[in-house]
Amino acid sequence: MDFSKDLICENLTNRDGVLHFAGQNTADLAAQYGTPLYLMDENRIRQQVAVYRDTLRECFGDKGHALYASKACAFKRMYAIMAEEGISVDVVSAGEIASAHAAGFPMENVYFHSNNKTDFDIAYAMDCGVGTFVVDHPEELAAIDAIAAEKGVVQPVILRITPGIDCHTYEAVNTGKVDSKFGSAIVTGDASRIVKQALDAANVKLCGFHCHIGSQVFDSSVYIATVDVMVDFLAEMKKTFGYSAEKLDIGGGYGVRYVATDPVIDIAASIREVAQQMQVRVAEAGIEMPHIYMEPGRSIVADAGLTLYTVGAVKKIEGYKNYVSVDGGMTDNPRFALYGSEYTVLPATRLEDERDMVADVVGRCCESGDIIQPDVALPADMARGELLAVLTTGAYNYSMASNYNRIPRPPVVMLRDGESYVAVRRETLEDILALDK
Ligand code: LLP
Repeated sequence: MDFSKDLICENLTNRDGVLHFAGQNTADLAAQYGTPLYLMDENRIRQQVAVYRDTLRECFGDKGHALYASKACAFKRMYAIMAEEGISVDVVSAGEIASAHAAGFPMENVYFHSNNKTDFDIAYAMDCGVGTFVVDHPEELAAIDAIAAEKGVVQPVILRITPGIDCHTYEAVNTGKVDSKFGSAIVTGDASRIVKQALDAANVKLCGFHCHIGSQVFDSSVYIATVDVMVDFLAEMKKTFGYSAEKLDIGGGYGVRYVATDPVIDIAASIREVAQQMQVRVAEAGIEMPHIYMEPGRSIVADAGLTLYTVGAVKKIEGYKNYVSVDGGMTDNPRFALYGSEYTVLPATRLEDERDMVADVVGRCCESGDIIQPDVALPADMARGELLAVLTTGAYNYSMASNYNRIPRPPVVMLRDGESYVAVRRETLEDILALDK
Protein backbone atom coordinates (compact mmCIF):
# COMPACT_ATOMS: atom_id res chain seq x y z
CA MET A 1 0.00 0.00 0.00
CA ASP A 2 1.19 3.51 -0.73
CA PHE A 3 0.33 5.85 2.09
CA SER A 4 2.45 8.74 0.78
CA LYS A 5 -0.68 10.75 -0.05
CA ASP A 6 -1.22 11.10 3.71
CA LEU A 7 1.95 13.17 4.02
CA ILE A 8 -0.08 16.27 3.30
CA CYS A 9 2.59 18.88 4.00
CA GLU A 10 6.18 19.00 2.82
CA ASN A 11 7.48 18.97 6.42
CA LEU A 12 6.27 15.33 6.80
CA THR A 13 8.47 12.46 5.67
CA ASN A 14 8.51 8.70 5.95
CA ARG A 15 11.86 7.17 6.88
CA ASP A 16 11.70 3.39 7.13
CA GLY A 17 8.10 3.55 8.24
CA VAL A 18 8.71 6.17 10.92
CA LEU A 19 7.08 9.57 10.60
CA HIS A 20 9.55 12.44 10.62
CA PHE A 21 8.34 15.98 11.17
CA ALA A 22 10.47 18.97 10.26
CA GLY A 23 13.20 16.42 9.60
CA GLN A 24 13.03 14.95 13.13
CA ASN A 25 12.04 11.47 14.26
CA THR A 26 8.65 11.65 15.99
CA ALA A 27 9.33 8.49 18.04
CA ASP A 28 12.51 10.03 19.44
CA LEU A 29 10.67 13.25 20.26
CA ALA A 30 7.89 11.30 22.02
CA ALA A 31 10.53 9.45 24.04
CA GLN A 32 12.30 12.68 24.96
CA TYR A 33 9.28 14.85 25.84
CA GLY A 34 6.51 12.35 26.60
CA THR A 35 2.99 12.33 25.19
CA PRO A 36 0.55 13.82 24.51
CA LEU A 37 2.83 16.29 22.81
CA TYR A 38 2.27 19.26 20.53
CA LEU A 39 5.12 19.69 18.08
CA MET A 40 5.57 22.86 16.06
CA ASP A 41 7.83 23.43 13.09
CA GLU A 42 9.28 26.90 13.57
CA ASN A 43 10.75 27.08 10.08
CA ARG A 44 7.35 26.31 8.56
CA ILE A 45 5.74 29.09 10.62
CA ARG A 46 8.36 31.56 9.39
CA GLN A 47 7.94 30.34 5.83
CA GLN A 48 4.17 30.93 5.94
CA VAL A 49 4.60 34.36 7.50
CA ALA A 50 6.99 35.21 4.67
CA VAL A 51 4.41 34.23 2.04
CA TYR A 52 1.96 36.83 3.36
CA ARG A 53 4.48 39.51 4.30
CA ASP A 54 6.45 39.34 1.07
CA THR A 55 3.48 38.96 -1.29
CA LEU A 56 1.62 41.87 0.30
CA ARG A 57 4.76 43.99 0.00
CA GLU A 58 5.26 42.92 -3.58
CA CYS A 59 1.66 43.93 -4.41
CA PHE A 60 1.26 47.09 -2.35
CA GLY A 61 4.82 48.20 -1.55
CA ASP A 62 5.07 49.78 1.88
CA LYS A 63 1.25 49.81 2.01
CA GLY A 64 1.01 45.99 2.22
CA HIS A 65 0.99 44.45 5.70
CA ALA A 66 0.56 41.02 7.27
CA LEU A 67 -0.92 40.53 10.73
CA TYR A 68 -0.91 37.21 12.55
CA ALA A 69 -4.29 36.38 14.13
CA SER A 70 -2.80 35.04 17.33
CA LYS A 71 -5.99 33.31 18.54
CA ALA A 72 -4.91 30.44 16.25
CA CYS A 73 -1.99 29.67 18.54
CA ALA A 74 -0.78 32.03 21.22
CA PHE A 75 2.09 31.81 23.66
CA LYS A 76 5.05 34.05 24.33
CA ARG A 77 7.45 32.41 21.90
CA MET A 78 4.93 32.75 19.08
CA TYR A 79 4.70 36.52 19.61
CA ALA A 80 8.51 36.72 19.70
CA ILE A 81 8.69 34.91 16.35
CA MET A 82 6.20 37.35 14.83
CA ALA A 83 8.23 40.26 16.19
CA GLU A 84 11.39 38.81 14.64
CA GLU A 85 9.58 38.37 11.34
CA GLY A 86 8.52 42.01 11.48
CA ILE A 87 4.76 41.50 11.23
CA SER A 88 1.93 42.81 13.41
CA VAL A 89 -0.46 40.69 15.48
CA ASP A 90 -4.16 40.64 16.20
CA VAL A 91 -5.23 39.87 19.76
CA VAL A 92 -8.70 39.33 21.21
CA SER A 93 -8.29 39.39 24.97
CA ALA A 94 -6.30 40.79 27.86
CA GLY A 95 -4.61 37.38 28.09
CA GLU A 96 -3.31 37.60 24.55
CA ILE A 97 -2.26 41.22 25.16
CA ALA A 98 -0.40 40.17 28.32
CA SER A 99 1.36 37.38 26.42
CA ALA A 100 2.46 39.67 23.59
CA HIS A 101 3.61 42.25 26.11
CA ALA A 102 5.53 39.72 28.17
CA ALA A 103 7.22 38.48 24.99
CA GLY A 104 8.49 42.00 24.29
CA PHE A 105 6.29 42.37 21.23
CA PRO A 106 6.18 46.00 19.98
CA MET A 107 2.73 46.97 21.30
CA GLU A 108 2.22 49.69 18.69
CA ASN A 109 1.90 46.82 16.18
CA VAL A 110 -0.92 45.12 18.10
CA TYR A 111 -4.53 45.22 16.85
CA PHE A 112 -7.10 44.56 19.54
CA HIS A 113 -10.21 42.76 18.31
CA SER A 114 -13.14 41.19 20.21
CA ASN A 115 -16.86 41.82 19.98
CA ASN A 116 -17.10 42.56 23.67
CA LYS A 117 -14.16 44.35 25.25
CA THR A 118 -14.77 44.95 28.94
CA ASP A 119 -13.82 48.23 30.60
CA PHE A 120 -10.94 46.34 32.19
CA ASP A 121 -9.77 45.07 28.77
CA ILE A 122 -9.93 48.56 27.29
CA ALA A 123 -8.01 50.19 30.13
CA TYR A 124 -5.47 47.36 30.27
CA ALA A 125 -4.87 47.53 26.50
CA MET A 126 -4.32 51.29 26.69
CA ASP A 127 -1.94 50.88 29.63
CA CYS A 128 0.05 48.32 27.63
CA GLY A 129 0.21 50.73 24.69
CA VAL A 130 -1.81 48.63 22.23
CA GLY A 131 -1.51 50.46 18.90
CA THR A 132 -4.96 50.03 17.39
CA PHE A 133 -8.36 48.94 18.64
CA VAL A 134 -10.67 47.20 16.19
CA VAL A 135 -14.02 48.54 17.32
CA ASP A 136 -17.05 46.33 17.06
CA HIS A 137 -20.10 48.48 17.87
CA PRO A 138 -21.28 51.92 19.06
CA GLU A 139 -21.36 51.31 22.84
CA GLU A 140 -17.86 49.94 22.70
CA LEU A 141 -16.69 52.97 20.76
CA ALA A 142 -18.25 55.23 23.40
CA ALA A 143 -16.52 53.27 26.17
CA ILE A 144 -13.14 53.47 24.41
CA ASP A 145 -13.60 57.20 23.88
CA ALA A 146 -14.51 57.74 27.55
CA ILE A 147 -11.65 55.64 28.93
CA ALA A 148 -9.17 57.30 26.55
CA ALA A 149 -10.43 60.70 27.81
CA GLU A 150 -9.87 59.63 31.44
CA LYS A 151 -6.34 58.57 30.55
CA GLY A 152 -5.69 61.70 28.50
CA VAL A 153 -4.88 59.77 25.31
CA VAL A 154 -6.23 59.67 21.78
CA GLN A 155 -6.69 56.02 20.83
CA PRO A 156 -6.24 55.00 17.17
CA VAL A 157 -9.11 52.75 16.07
CA ILE A 158 -10.35 50.94 13.01
CA LEU A 159 -14.00 49.91 12.74
CA ARG A 160 -15.17 46.36 12.13
CA ILE A 161 -17.61 46.41 9.25
CA THR A 162 -19.89 43.54 8.28
CA PRO A 163 -19.90 43.44 4.49
CA GLY A 164 -22.80 40.97 4.17
CA ILE A 165 -20.83 38.18 2.51
CA ASP A 166 -21.33 34.49 3.22
CA CYS A 167 -18.16 32.40 2.84
CA HIS A 168 -20.10 29.12 2.82
CA THR A 169 -17.70 27.21 5.04
CA TYR A 170 -18.98 26.24 8.49
CA GLU A 171 -21.30 28.26 10.67
CA ALA A 172 -19.00 28.66 13.68
CA VAL A 173 -16.51 30.61 11.58
CA ASN A 174 -18.89 32.40 9.23
CA THR A 175 -18.61 36.02 10.32
CA GLY A 176 -19.22 38.26 7.32
CA LYS A 177 -23.00 37.91 7.14
CA VAL A 178 -25.33 40.73 8.18
CA ASP A 179 -26.73 38.73 11.10
CA SER A 180 -23.25 38.06 12.52
CA LYS A 181 -22.50 38.92 16.15
CA PHE A 182 -19.43 40.79 14.88
CA GLY A 183 -19.18 44.31 13.55
CA SER A 184 -21.53 46.90 12.13
CA ALA A 185 -23.39 46.02 8.95
CA ILE A 186 -23.31 48.19 5.85
CA VAL A 187 -26.84 47.38 4.62
CA THR A 188 -28.53 48.34 7.87
CA GLY A 189 -26.82 51.75 7.96
CA ASP A 190 -25.07 50.80 11.22
CA ALA A 191 -21.66 51.00 9.56
CA SER A 192 -22.20 54.52 8.34
CA ARG A 193 -23.55 55.60 11.75
CA ILE A 194 -20.54 54.27 13.63
CA VAL A 195 -18.21 56.07 11.21
CA LYS A 196 -19.97 59.34 12.06
CA GLN A 197 -19.71 58.56 15.76
CA ALA A 198 -15.96 57.85 15.44
CA LEU A 199 -15.32 61.01 13.47
CA ASP A 200 -17.12 63.04 16.13
CA ALA A 201 -15.42 61.39 19.12
CA ALA A 202 -12.71 63.54 20.68
CA ASN A 203 -10.51 60.80 22.09
CA VAL A 204 -10.34 58.31 19.26
CA LYS A 205 -8.62 58.69 15.92
CA LEU A 206 -10.35 56.83 13.11
CA CYS A 207 -7.70 55.09 10.99
CA GLY A 208 -9.86 52.93 8.73
CA PHE A 209 -11.84 49.74 8.49
CA HIS A 210 -11.70 46.04 9.09
CA CYS A 211 -13.74 43.07 7.97
CA HIS A 212 -13.38 39.30 8.19
CA ILE A 213 -15.60 36.93 6.29
CA GLY A 214 -14.77 33.52 7.70
CA SER A 215 -12.33 30.68 7.92
CA GLN A 216 -11.11 27.68 5.93
CA VAL A 217 -11.66 29.59 2.67
CA PHE A 218 -10.02 28.15 -0.46
CA ASP A 219 -11.53 30.39 -3.07
CA SER A 220 -10.17 33.84 -4.01
CA SER A 221 -13.67 34.90 -5.08
CA VAL A 222 -14.66 35.37 -1.43
CA TYR A 223 -11.90 37.96 -0.97
CA ILE A 224 -12.61 39.54 -4.35
CA ALA A 225 -16.25 40.02 -3.35
CA THR A 226 -15.04 41.51 -0.06
CA VAL A 227 -12.78 43.95 -1.89
CA ASP A 228 -15.69 45.06 -4.08
CA VAL A 229 -17.96 45.74 -1.12
CA MET A 230 -15.30 47.39 1.01
CA VAL A 231 -13.94 49.67 -1.73
CA ASP A 232 -17.51 50.83 -2.42
CA PHE A 233 -17.90 51.47 1.29
CA LEU A 234 -14.66 53.48 1.42
CA ALA A 235 -15.82 55.55 -1.54
CA GLU A 236 -19.20 56.12 0.10
CA MET A 237 -17.57 57.26 3.35
CA LYS A 238 -15.42 59.67 1.38
CA LYS A 239 -18.48 61.07 -0.36
CA THR A 240 -20.62 61.27 2.77
CA PHE A 241 -18.11 62.47 5.35
CA GLY A 242 -15.09 63.53 3.27
CA TYR A 243 -13.24 60.81 5.17
CA SER A 244 -10.37 58.93 3.49
CA ALA A 245 -9.49 55.65 5.18
CA GLU A 246 -5.82 55.22 5.84
CA LYS A 247 -6.09 51.46 6.51
CA LEU A 248 -8.21 48.60 5.19
CA ASP A 249 -7.90 45.17 6.81
CA ILE A 250 -9.64 42.45 4.82
CA GLY A 251 -9.28 39.77 7.49
CA GLY A 252 -7.87 36.27 7.52
CA GLY A 253 -9.35 32.91 6.64
CA TYR A 254 -7.30 31.09 4.01
CA GLY A 255 -7.83 27.34 4.29
CA VAL A 256 -5.37 24.58 5.09
CA ARG A 257 -5.20 20.88 4.29
CA TYR A 258 -6.36 18.61 7.07
CA VAL A 259 -6.82 15.59 4.83
CA ALA A 260 -5.46 14.53 1.45
CA THR A 261 -8.74 15.42 -0.27
CA ASP A 262 -8.57 19.08 0.83
CA PRO A 263 -7.44 21.36 -1.98
CA VAL A 264 -3.89 22.65 -2.22
CA ILE A 265 -3.97 26.41 -2.24
CA ASP A 266 -1.39 28.83 -3.61
CA ILE A 267 -1.82 31.68 -1.15
CA ALA A 268 0.64 34.01 -2.89
CA ALA A 269 -1.19 33.60 -6.20
CA SER A 270 -4.53 34.24 -4.52
CA ILE A 271 -3.22 37.38 -2.79
CA ARG A 272 -1.96 38.64 -6.16
CA GLU A 273 -5.44 38.15 -7.65
CA VAL A 274 -7.06 39.95 -4.75
CA ALA A 275 -4.51 42.77 -4.97
CA GLN A 276 -5.17 43.15 -8.68
CA GLN A 277 -8.88 43.55 -7.96
CA MET A 278 -8.09 46.05 -5.22
CA GLN A 279 -5.99 48.16 -7.58
CA VAL A 280 -8.66 48.16 -10.27
CA ARG A 281 -11.52 48.95 -7.87
CA VAL A 282 -9.62 51.66 -5.99
CA ALA A 283 -8.74 53.37 -9.30
CA GLU A 284 -12.38 53.11 -10.49
CA ALA A 285 -13.67 54.53 -7.23
CA GLY A 286 -11.23 57.43 -7.45
CA ILE A 287 -9.97 56.98 -3.89
CA GLU A 288 -6.44 56.77 -2.60
CA MET A 289 -5.04 53.27 -1.99
CA PRO A 290 -5.21 52.64 1.76
CA HIS A 291 -2.66 50.55 3.63
CA ILE A 292 -3.88 46.98 3.08
CA TYR A 293 -3.78 44.37 5.86
CA MET A 294 -4.48 40.66 5.89
CA GLU A 295 -4.69 38.79 9.19
CA PRO A 296 -4.32 35.04 8.74
CA GLY A 297 -4.13 32.70 11.71
CA ARG A 298 -4.78 29.10 10.67
CA SER A 299 -2.72 29.16 7.46
CA ILE A 300 0.34 30.46 9.35
CA VAL A 301 0.43 27.74 12.00
CA ALA A 302 -1.88 24.82 11.19
CA ASP A 303 0.41 22.54 9.22
CA ALA A 304 3.35 23.68 11.33
CA GLY A 305 1.75 21.61 14.10
CA LEU A 306 1.39 17.91 14.83
CA THR A 307 0.18 16.09 17.94
CA LEU A 308 1.67 12.83 19.20
CA TYR A 309 -0.30 10.48 21.42
CA THR A 310 0.37 7.11 23.00
CA VAL A 311 -2.27 4.46 22.43
CA GLY A 312 -3.89 3.03 25.53
CA ALA A 313 -6.98 0.86 25.29
CA VAL A 314 -7.70 -0.84 21.96
CA LYS A 315 -11.27 -2.05 22.17
CA LYS A 316 -12.83 -4.19 19.48
CA ILE A 317 -16.57 -4.61 19.93
CA GLU A 318 -17.08 -7.57 17.64
CA GLY A 319 -19.67 -6.84 14.97
CA TYR A 320 -20.05 -3.22 16.10
CA LYS A 321 -17.13 -0.87 16.35
CA ASN A 322 -13.43 -0.51 17.16
CA TYR A 323 -11.98 2.11 19.46
CA VAL A 324 -8.38 3.20 19.85
CA SER A 325 -8.02 5.38 22.94
CA VAL A 326 -5.16 7.81 23.29
CA ASP A 327 -3.65 9.68 26.24
CA GLY A 328 -5.13 13.03 25.16
CA GLY A 329 -8.42 13.91 23.54
CA MET A 330 -10.94 16.74 23.30
CA THR A 331 -8.97 18.56 26.01
CA ASP A 332 -6.07 19.15 23.62
CA ASN A 333 -8.06 19.01 20.37
CA PRO A 334 -11.76 19.87 20.67
CA ARG A 335 -12.24 20.47 16.95
CA PHE A 336 -13.95 17.22 15.98
CA ALA A 337 -16.25 17.50 18.99
CA LEU A 338 -17.08 21.11 18.15
CA TYR A 339 -17.12 21.24 14.36
CA GLY A 340 -16.83 17.67 13.13
CA SER A 341 -13.43 18.65 11.71
CA GLU A 342 -11.50 16.13 9.70
CA TYR A 343 -7.94 15.13 10.57
CA THR A 344 -5.33 12.78 9.21
CA VAL A 345 -4.29 10.27 11.87
CA LEU A 346 -1.21 8.10 11.25
CA PRO A 347 0.43 5.21 13.11
CA ALA A 348 3.66 7.16 13.64
CA THR A 349 6.10 4.26 13.62
CA ARG A 350 4.24 1.95 11.23
CA LEU A 351 3.69 4.07 8.15
CA GLU A 352 4.30 1.15 5.83
CA ASP A 353 2.17 -1.41 7.63
CA GLU A 354 -1.16 -2.64 6.36
CA ARG A 355 -4.02 -0.59 7.85
CA ASP A 356 -6.66 -3.28 8.03
CA MET A 357 -8.77 -2.00 10.91
CA VAL A 358 -11.18 0.91 11.00
CA ALA A 359 -11.43 2.51 14.43
CA ASP A 360 -12.59 5.67 16.11
CA VAL A 361 -9.61 7.38 17.69
CA VAL A 362 -10.96 8.67 20.98
CA GLY A 363 -9.66 10.53 24.00
CA ARG A 364 -9.73 9.76 27.68
CA CYS A 365 -12.40 12.19 28.84
CA CYS A 366 -15.57 10.91 30.43
CA GLU A 367 -17.68 11.81 27.45
CA SER A 368 -18.71 9.82 24.39
CA GLY A 369 -18.24 12.91 22.24
CA ASP A 370 -14.54 12.88 23.06
CA ILE A 371 -13.51 11.81 19.59
CA ILE A 372 -10.35 12.94 17.85
CA GLN A 373 -11.39 11.35 14.57
CA PRO A 374 -13.86 8.63 13.62
CA ASP A 375 -13.22 5.86 11.06
CA VAL A 376 -9.45 5.92 10.98
CA ALA A 377 -7.61 3.13 9.12
CA LEU A 378 -4.96 1.60 11.39
CA PRO A 379 -3.09 -1.69 11.67
CA ALA A 380 -5.40 -4.28 13.25
CA ASP A 381 -2.76 -5.30 15.78
CA MET A 382 -2.30 -1.76 17.05
CA ALA A 383 -1.58 -2.09 20.75
CA ARG A 384 -1.10 -0.20 23.97
CA GLY A 385 2.12 1.83 23.97
CA GLU A 386 2.23 2.57 20.23
CA LEU A 387 2.33 6.10 18.86
CA LEU A 388 -0.31 7.93 16.88
CA ALA A 389 0.28 11.23 15.09
CA VAL A 390 -2.51 13.66 14.28
CA LEU A 391 -1.49 16.08 11.54
CA THR A 392 -2.26 19.77 11.04
CA THR A 393 -2.95 20.55 14.69
CA GLY A 394 -1.01 23.83 14.90
CA ALA A 395 -4.09 26.06 14.74
CA TYR A 396 -6.93 26.17 17.26
CA ASN A 397 -5.71 23.14 19.22
CA TYR A 398 -3.34 24.43 21.90
CA SER A 399 -5.24 27.73 21.92
CA MET A 400 -8.56 25.93 22.50
CA ALA A 401 -7.25 23.33 24.92
CA SER A 402 -8.96 22.93 28.28
CA ASN A 403 -8.54 21.19 31.61
CA TYR A 404 -11.82 19.27 31.35
CA ASN A 405 -11.67 16.32 33.75
CA ARG A 406 -8.70 18.15 35.28
CA ILE A 407 -6.43 16.78 32.60
CA PRO A 408 -3.17 18.74 32.34
CA ARG A 409 -2.45 20.31 28.95
CA PRO A 410 0.46 19.01 26.83
CA PRO A 411 3.62 21.01 26.27
CA VAL A 412 4.44 22.76 23.01
CA VAL A 413 7.82 21.72 21.67
CA MET A 414 9.30 23.73 18.83
CA LEU A 415 11.43 22.14 16.12
CA ARG A 416 14.01 24.30 14.41
CA ASP A 417 16.93 23.41 12.16
CA GLY A 418 17.26 19.88 13.53
CA GLU A 419 16.92 20.98 17.16
CA SER A 420 14.00 21.05 19.58
CA TYR A 421 13.09 23.21 22.54
CA VAL A 422 10.15 23.64 24.90
CA ALA A 423 8.09 26.76 24.16
CA VAL A 424 5.32 25.90 26.65
CA ARG A 425 6.02 23.35 29.35
CA ARG A 426 3.73 20.47 30.24
CA GLU A 427 1.12 21.28 32.88
CA THR A 428 1.56 19.40 36.11
CA LEU A 429 -0.89 18.29 38.76
CA GLU A 430 0.41 21.20 40.85
CA ASP A 431 -0.70 23.55 38.05
CA ILE A 432 -4.11 21.91 38.12
CA LEU A 433 -4.39 22.59 41.86
CA ALA A 434 -2.74 26.00 41.78
CA LEU A 435 -5.90 28.12 41.78
CA ASP A 436 -7.90 26.18 44.35
CA LYS A 437 -8.15 27.79 47.78
N1 LLP B 1 -9.43 37.86 11.91
C1 LLP B 1 -10.55 37.75 12.61
C2 LLP B 1 -11.30 38.93 12.96
C3 LLP B 1 -11.00 36.49 13.01
O1 LLP B 1 -12.13 36.39 13.69
C4 LLP B 1 -10.26 35.34 12.68
C5 LLP B 1 -10.69 34.01 13.10
C6 LLP B 1 -9.07 35.50 11.94
C7 LLP B 1 -8.70 36.78 11.56
C8 LLP B 1 -8.20 34.34 11.56
O2 LLP B 1 -8.85 33.46 10.74
P1 LLP B 1 -8.05 32.20 10.17
O3 LLP B 1 -7.03 32.72 9.19
O4 LLP B 1 -7.41 31.54 11.32
O5 LLP B 1 -9.07 31.36 9.52
N2 LLP B 1 -11.92 27.89 16.37
C9 LLP B 1 -12.26 27.81 14.96
C10 LLP B 1 -11.78 29.02 14.19
C11 LLP B 1 -12.31 30.31 14.71
C12 LLP B 1 -11.85 31.45 13.88
C13 LLP B 1 -12.12 32.72 14.57
N3 LLP B 1 -11.67 33.87 13.89
C14 LLP B 1 -11.67 26.53 14.37
O6 LLP B 1 -11.02 25.80 15.11
O7 LLP B 1 -11.86 26.26 13.20
